[in-house]
Amino acid sequence: MCGIIGRVGDGNALEPLLTGLENLEYRGYDSAGVAVQNGSGIDVQKRSGKVEELKDSIGEPLHGEVGIGHTRWSTHGPPTDANAHPHTDESEDVAVVHNGIIENYAELRERLAATGYEFTSDTDTEVIPHLVQYHLDAGCDSETAFRRAIDELEGSYAVTAMVSGEHVLYAARQGSPLVVGMEDGEYFLASDVPAFLEYTDSVVYLEDGDVVVVDEDGVEFTDLEGNPITRPSETVEWDPEQAGKGEYDHFMLKEINEQPTSLAQAIEGRVDSTTERIALSDFEPGTFENVDSVQFVACGTSYHAALYGSLTLNQAGVQSTALLANEYSVSAPPIDDDTLVIAVTQSGETADTLNALRRADAEGARTLTVTNVVGSTAAREADDTLFIRAGPEIGVAATKTFSSQAVMLALLGQRIAGDLRNGPPADLESLLPALESMPTDIDALLDESDAETIAERYRDSQSYFFIGRGLGFPVALEGALKFKEITYEHAEGFASGELKHGPLALVTPETPVFAIFTGQEDEKTLKNAEEAQTRGAPVIAVCPDGHPAVETADEHLAIPDTDPELAGLLANVQLQLVSYYAADLLGRPIDKPRNLAKSVTVE
Ligand code: AGP
Repeated sequence: MCGIIGRVGDGNALEPLLTGLENLEYRGYDSAGVAVQNGSGIDVQKRSGKVEELKDSIGEPLHGEVGIGHTRWSTHGPPTDANAHPHTDESEDVAVVHNGIIENYAELRERLAATGYEFTSDTDTEVIPHLVQYHLDAGCDSETAFRRAIDELEGSYAVTAMVSGEHVLYAARQGSPLVVGMEDGEYFLASDVPAFLEYTDSVVYLEDGDVVVVDEDGVEFTDLEGNPITRPSETVEWDPEQAGKGEYDHFMLKEINEQPTSLAQAIEGRVDSTTERIALSDFEPGTFENVDSVQFVACGTSYHAALYGSLTLNQAGVQSTALLANEYSVSAPPIDDDTLVIAVTQSGETADTLNALRRADAEGARTLTVTNVVGSTAAREADDTLFIRAGPEIGVAATKTFSSQAVMLALLGQRIAGDLRNGPPADLESLLPALESMPTDIDALLDESDAETIAERYRDSQSYFFIGRGLGFPVALEGALKFKEITYEHAEGFASGELKHGPLALVTPETPVFAIFTGQEDEKTLKNAEEAQTRGAPVIAVCPDGHPAVETADEHLAIPDTDPELAGLLANVQLQLVSYYAADLLGRPIDKPRNLAKSVTVE
C-alpha cells in the first residue's frame, strides 16, 4: 500500500504536503514525491528513499497553493526515482498519484504507446496521466478528460490528479481508500486520515465509484457520470498528538505503552462487573440466536487475534474456525445463512481480508467486521461492525491493536455463546473483573518488565522459538511474528505439544525458547519446555510470580495473575517488549521494517 495526500487552499501547499507524507510514511516508504502548481506549470520532485531524503533533496522550495504527494510501497517496478509518484505525461501537463493496481495497464500502455505517448517508468500508474492527456488532446475539458480516463481503468484505485494551470484537484476511488478533509477554505485528499489530522478533523469518506472535484470554493461529490451525490461529513475523534511519537523513540514503543489506555477505551461502557453484564450496544442479547457456526477471516497479527477469538468461542462451546483470509477462496468451509463470518482487520483495508469478506457475503453468510478504523472499507461493507477504539496505530508492527482486538473478540464471543445457549452468558464472575483490571495489570507489567535484559542476554542467538498451549498458542505465533518482523532474526511459534513432533531437531543452546503459560494445561507446556531445555536450549518462562515454571526455567518474564482467558494477552505485552529491545539493539528501523507496509491493499 502507499500514501496519498492532496491539498488545495491559500498559502504554500508544500508544507502540508510534506507533513502529510511524513504522517503517511508508515503506509509505504521506498520512494516519495510531490507535485505543486507553481503558476506557470507543474513542478515535480520525486525520488527513491524516505520522505526525509525527499525533503533534503528539494533545494529550491516549490511554491504553489495546490499540490499532490505520494509515498510508495512498490508493486510494479523497483523503488527507483523514475517509478516514484507523482507520474506525469511527457509535457508535465497532468500529474497523478495512485494507490492500488490497474489491472489493464499493459493493454492501455500498449495502445497509448502505439499512438506516440512515451513511457518512462515500470509502473501501472503511468498510464493514468497519459490517458488524461489523451482525452485532453482529443479536445475534452480537464474534468471530462479525468472522468473518461477513470472510466477506462480496471482494477483498484485511489487516484488524485491535477492539470497544469488549474487550481483544482480531481480524485476518484474504486477499491482503495480515499478521504476528504475540510477546514475553512483548505481542502485535503488523502488515503488515510492521519495525513492531515494537524489541519482538520472534519472528514468525508469516499465510496467506490465516487469522483470529486476540489477547488478553493469547496468539494463537488459526484458519481463517475457527473451526477451529484451526497456523502456525510464526520468528525474524527483521533487527535494529532495521539498520532505523533511524543517522547518515545519509536511509534512501536509508544503504542506498546499505550495499551493500558487503549484497552480501557476498548472496554469502556462495554463491561460491568458489578452486574456481570457485557454491554455491546449494537449487539443486544439475542442478536446471534440464529448463528450456528462462526468463521473468522484475517491476516498476520489480526489472524492471531482471530485465532484467539475462535479458541475462546470453541472453549465456550460454539463451533468456530479461524482462517487465513488469503487462503479463504480455496479453503473456506461450507457457508449458509446461519454462518457468521467475522473479518478481523486493524486497518479495514487489507485486500485479502476484504476479498474473503466479499466472498462470504456473496455466499449468503452474515458478516461482521472487527476493526480500528471508522469509515474503512471493511467497516462499511460488513452487515455489522465492532470498533476496537485503539486510536491510531502508526508502527508497522501491530501491538496495541492486537490486544484490543483479542479483548473485543473475547467479549463478542461471550455474547455469541450466551445467545446460542439461549440463556445468560457463562460465568463472567472471573472474566469481567479481570478485564477491568487489565489496564492496571499492563501498567504494572510495563513498569517492571525485564524484557530489555532478556533481549540483551540472548542477542547473539541463532533462532528464537515461542511455545504456548490453548490460548497461549496464538500468542506464541504472534510473539514469533513480531520478533522476525522487526529484528529480521529467525523466529518461529509452535503449539507447545508440537515441539517434539519435529521442531525439537532444531533446538540447540543457541535457540532460546519463550514458553507462555496461561493456566491451561501448564504442566504439559512445562514438560515441553523442559524437553527443549534438556537439549541445551535456554527457557524463558512467561508466567506469574510463584508459577512452578519459574523454578525450572532459566529466565522469567513476570505477568500479573489474571483470568486464564486473558493471561496470554499479558504475556504478549512482555513478548512485544522483547522484540522491540532486540530490534533496537540490532539497530533496525523498528517502525518501518524492510519490505513491509502497514496495510496491504494488494493480494
Ligand atoms: C503485523 O505486525 C503486521 N502489521 C501484519 O501482519 C498485519 O497484522 C496484517 O497485514 C493485517 O493487517 P490488518 O489488521 O490491517 O488487516
